[in-house]
Amino acid sequence: MIPSEEINLIRNNANIVDIVSSYINLEPKGKNFFGICPFHDDHNPSMSVSPEKQIYTCFVCGATGNVFSFVQDYENVSFPEAVSIVASKIGYNLQYKAKINKPNKDLYEITDIACKYFINNLNSSLGKNAKKYLKDRELSADIIKDFNIGIATSNNLAKLLLEKGFTEKQIISAGIANMGDNLYDIFQNRITFPINNERGEVAGFSARVYNGEQENKYINSRENLIFKKGNILFNYDKAKSEVNKTKSIIIVEGQFDAIRIYSLGIKNVVATMGTAFTKEHVSLLKKLNAKIILMMDNDEAGEKTTISSGEALVNSGLNVEVIRLSGEKDPDDYIIKNGEEKFKNLLKNPTSFFEFKLNYLKSNKDLNKSKDLASYINSVIDELNKSNDEILRSVTINKLAKDYDLDKEILTKKLIVKTKANEFKPLVKKKTRLTKNQKLCETVIYIMMKDIKYIKKYDRDLGYMPNKDYYQIANDILAFYKLNNGFNIADFISYEVKSPYYETIIRIINDYETLEPCYDEFDDYLSLIKKWIKEEQINKLKIEIDNETDINKRLELNDLLIKLKKESE
Ligand code: CTP
Ligand code: MN
Repeated sequence: MIPSEEINLIRNNANIVDIVSSYINLEPKGKNFFGICPFHDDHNPSMSVSPEKQIYTCFVCGATGNVFSFVQDYENVSFPEAVSIVASKIGYNLQYKAKINKPNKDLYEITDIACKYFINNLNSSLGKNAKKYLKDRELSADIIKDFNIGIATSNNLAKLLLEKGFTEKQIISAGIANMGDNLYDIFQNRITFPINNERGEVAGFSARVYNGEQENKYINSRENLIFKKGNILFNYDKAKSEVNKTKSIIIVEGQFDAIRIYSLGIKNVVATMGTAFTKEHVSLLKKLNAKIILMMDNDEAGEKTTISSGEALVNSGLNVEVIRLSGEKDPDDYIIKNGEEKFKNLLKNPTSFFEFKLNYLKSNKDLNKSKDLASYINSVIDELNKSNDEILRSVTINKLAKDYDLDKEILTKKLIVKTKANEFKPLVKKKTRLTKNQKLCETVIYIMMKDIKYIKKYDRDLGYMPNKDYYQIANDILAFYKLNNGFNIADFISYEVKSPYYETIIRIINDYETLEPCYDEFDDYLSLIKKWIKEEQINKLKIEIDNETDINKRLELNDLLIKLKKESE
């Protein structure tokens, strides 16, 4: 168990905006920050993070909580694990070590040892030729270090791991060795590039030959539980924090291209690893809430990849732009040949994916032939029918009509009329209508949560609410205050996580912020509740009197009623 004082201390020192920003891109808006909610298929920034209250709330799916619940749900870990993760993010030395039941921990241990081992090799006398190769390719010592580049020399990594106590099965499962007559290393005589997962842990390697070209220029870790090319983007771990500043992310096809672009100080770049774009890639990119710039290789395959990945990204609601290189094969070659400045200029002039697609549809067609022209026009209309952008539709139709001397009416008729109903609608939870008295209780509860002065007042002057749920919440606030000798919304939320009132509490925190109740009227609110309590008593008493058959008792009750009525005036 982590002591609760320590939990509160960590929470207090961890700014939720910083911690959430290490997972998703947040933008300031008013008092709060907004980002794409990672807990549902979000298309617009629906998650708000409040630095003042240190909580987050998604207005679409309702996900809500404090820094710990965010980490818990995002990383899919237990509460103590989430506390340890937050502690390490803020550099707090937590005595308690959560038994992190991280899945595939042994595999990560192996890749981590391998990575360090390869780096060591490169820095030893065995690394001479590789160092020369890297120097010839103009990679600086800093970049080699930033990317943990190393070398695999002869067949000795698996052996080392066996000596360290890992089993053959574990070593094979980590994707770095195979079983022949004996266990042998997959990577030999190659430069190794560790491929990190989104959390920055080494998931596997891509390794390049450097002693002359060979058929298999690159080989990668065999796919395994922690390394799947389809859900990893090279440099994503470093790029994601950069995207907060740049609001855009460049996608290239090879890790060398990503490293080259990064070395120019353009760090918002990721690379696919020679595989097709998957839906996992799309969701990784969506989390960044940034504009996408596709910069695939300058060949036919690169063009096809631009189309297929662009479609997948656009369909998921992302804004996609395209930059095509000319002359050189890939961004690395382009930069080496043309220099930094020319490359940076290229970055200033992207084409929208839509425009790129229209040009692509034109290629291989002779628009002077009516058959080709008709097929082109039809494909453009098909594209427009996929889009909800009215302006884009109108601009494109006008341009087509003008460029090819066509009747605008006919073109427009081919467009499918989009109704508002097709648009994405958030599943905003139905608001329950509250009675005047319920609102009164909630206002009192909200004000209590904002300042301990009012908790004390409640305790002294009222201490009761004529509604079971609100009474319980107020009691919990009071108990929390007494236990901690203070009050803080975000800590209170951790305390209430398992309570049946959790949702109500979060709703009150969010609803009343916009209403800004009047703190000076707190005493009046308490008086109104007192009056309400009296009224309830009077009503109850009236029913009792009606049901009472004994005359004497009835008279007694009547006296009491008169007294109560007097009091409530
Ligand atoms: N790739 C691979 N296996 C290969 C070739 C390529 O896995 N046999 C992957 C690598 O991740 C590589 C990417 O596909 O980074 C792009 O390949 P390619 O364009 O051929 O390599 P470059 O990025 O140009 O690499 P270099 O400049 O080092 O030749
Ligand atoms: Mn290259």
